This record gives sequence, structure tokens and C-alpha cells, in this order.
Amino acid sequence: MEKEKKGKKIWKYLIIILLILLVISLIIGGYFLKLYLYPTVSFSLKGEEKYLLSYGDKYEEAGAEAKVNGKDYNNKIKIDDSKVKIDELGEYKINYSITLPNGKQENLERIIKVVDDIKPEIKLKGDNPIKISYGSTFTEPGYEVSDNYDESDTLKVEVTYDRTINTKESGTYQITYTVTDSNHNSNSIVREVIVSPRIVVINGITYVEGILIVNKKYSLPANYNPGENKEAANQLYLMRMEAAKYGYDLRYCSGFRSYNYQTNLYNNYVKKYGQAMTDTFSAKPGHSEHQTGLAFDIGAIDDNFGDTETGKWLAINAHKYGFIIRYPKGKQDVTGYKYEPWHVRYLGVELATKVYKSGLTLEEYLNI
Ligand code: DAL
Ligand code: ZN
Repeated sequence: MEKEKKGKKIWKYLIIILLILLVISLIIGGYFLKLYLYPTVSFSLKGEEKYLLSYGDKYEEAGAEAKVNGKDYNNKIKIDDSKVKIDELGEYKINYSITLPNGKQENLERIIKVVDDIKPEIKLKGDNPIKISYGSTFTEPGYEVSDNYDESDTLKVEVTYDRTINTKESGTYQITYTVTDSNHNSNSIVREVIVSPRIVVINGITYVEGILIVNKKYSLPANYNPGENKEAANQLYLMRMEAAKYGYDLRYCSGFRSYNYQTNLYNNYVKKYGQAMTDTFSAKPGHSEHQTGLAFDIGAIDDNFGDTETGKWLAINAHKYGFIIRYPKGKQDVTGYKYEPWHVRYLGVELATKVYKSGLTLEEYLNI
């Protein structure tokens, strides 16, 4: 009896074990069947989905990445870029596909837009700026254009002048060249044309735009002896009176100097300081503004005069009376002379104000 009971129990256990094994194998089998029939797929593009490609540029394939059921599937990605024409403007598609183990296909797409977004180029022939002398004839020297897409002769070029170039009106003119390609990309360049001032020499006296000029380049004849200019002297008087109201003494140090007087002055300086040094602060005979009767030394002949209250007042008020500080600080390379905060030149209120406001020396203002 005991033996029979034991045998039955063993059978029972065996059946239970078999059933458990069956369930396990069903679960495992189901799992693998699910992986096969409904795999987990991740499939995506690397880089942009829509890619703008400049005409003429190479397309670098950014690729895609794929994983099926967590496993790398990258080397099974097929890329079809046969429709892409990078040498024609337009929109093209690249197809990316993978075939899954169950035979199904997954697809992705990238759009490549080939565009012309490059500006055409323009180069000017001739100089820029172009400097031409007063009264001469101006001929526009032209330009050269090129583009990555259009032929040069199909490019549109617009040439505009800020005003008509009149070589009898000195100054700076601007010509703007704008080139546009068939895809509306455009590029501009500006050329400056500088018409030199009108320089007239009458009886050896140089007038630039009607203004008497004396400097290291332009001189006066030895016999030019006009004495002190009345208008300038009068304006100087008014300025000195005004300064005096504030307690500033614009002491009169020097005014008109004849050619002979300057000769002695200059020669004495040369004896004392040597020529090189003298030439930085004293004009050679015929080259001194003092010979015009329009220049004065006032206040104090002292390098520090510009830092005194009187010197400062003069610097900011002189133009109101028609004067400019003729040899400003740091402009020796232009005027030829060291800073002379005491030396004023009469130009009349209108011009002196313009020169003062420009912050330029007279040479720079007149472009000489
Ligand atoms: N001191 C100035 C430059 C002159 O001699 O005229
Ligand atoms: Zn002087």
C-alpha cells in the first residue's frame, strides 16, 4: 500500500514539472516570436532633415542610425541618393531604408535643397579712392564681376553716383556699384573720387579754393608786403577785448612780419639751434604766415600756453572771431610745425568755424 502511494506522488510531481517547463517554454517562445514579428525599431537620421546646400558645395552624407531590438543595425541601412543633383538648383530627396528580419521595410527621408545663396563678387578696376585734379576729366575705370552660379555677362550691375561728379567742384564723391545675380544675391562696393581743390597762383601767391595759403610747400614772393590785415586786426581786437572780460590776457606778441624780418629771425634761430631744429618752429623766409598779415602770436609764446585757462579759452573761442589755431598738437607731420597754441590765422568767421568743427588742420580741411 505504501509503495503504491509513493508511485502516485512521483507521477504528480513529474506532471507538475512538465507543466512548468511547458509554460516556461511557451513564455520564452512567445517572447522570441514577438521580437521577430513586432521588433523594437529605432531608426533616425543624423544631421538635419532638411539640408540647405550652397550651389557648388559638396554634400557630405551625415548618415542615419538604426537599432532593432536593441542591436546595432547601422550596416544594414541602405542610402539611395541617386535623385540628388547638386549641380542643379532644386529640392531633392535621399531615401534611407532598413529591412527588418520579418521582411518589413522602414524608410526615412532627407530633403536636400540646393540653393544659390552666394553673393556675386565685384572688383573695381583702377584706384580706390581715385584722386583727380581740379578741372580735369573724370573717366570711370569700370569693374569686374563674377559669380558661383551665373555667367559674368548675365549679372546685373547698377552704378549710382551720390551726386554728379563735377571736377570743377572739389571734394569727395561716391560711386556705389551693386551687382545682383539671377537668384537675387547682391553685393556692393563704394568707390571714392576725390577732386583736388582749385589751386590758383596769382603773382606768386597761392590761393586754394580762394584762400591764401602759406606753408612749407606754398610760399610768398619776397616783395609781398601787405602789412597787417585790417579786418583780421579788428577781429583780433574784439577777441582780445572779450577775453579780457574774463580776465584772460591775450597779449599781442607778434603780427605782420616782412620777408626781410623773417629772414633775420630765421637765420638767428639757425645760428642758435641749427637748421633742423629751427625748421620745426620757424618758417623759412617766404614761408611764414606772418608775412600775410593774417596771422598773430598772442597770449604767450610758451609750449604750456595751451594748458593755461587763457590758452584753453583761445582754443575754443578763436573761431567765433574768425581765427584758427594754425599748428595744432600732434599735427607736425601735416603742418610741418610743432604745436603752437599761440599762433592764430584769420580765415573769417564762417570758414574758421567750419575748420574748427572739422577738427582738421587747414591743410587737411582743404585736402592739400
Ligand atoms: N612760427 C611760425 C611757423 C612761423 O615762423 O611763421
Ligand atoms: Zn606765429
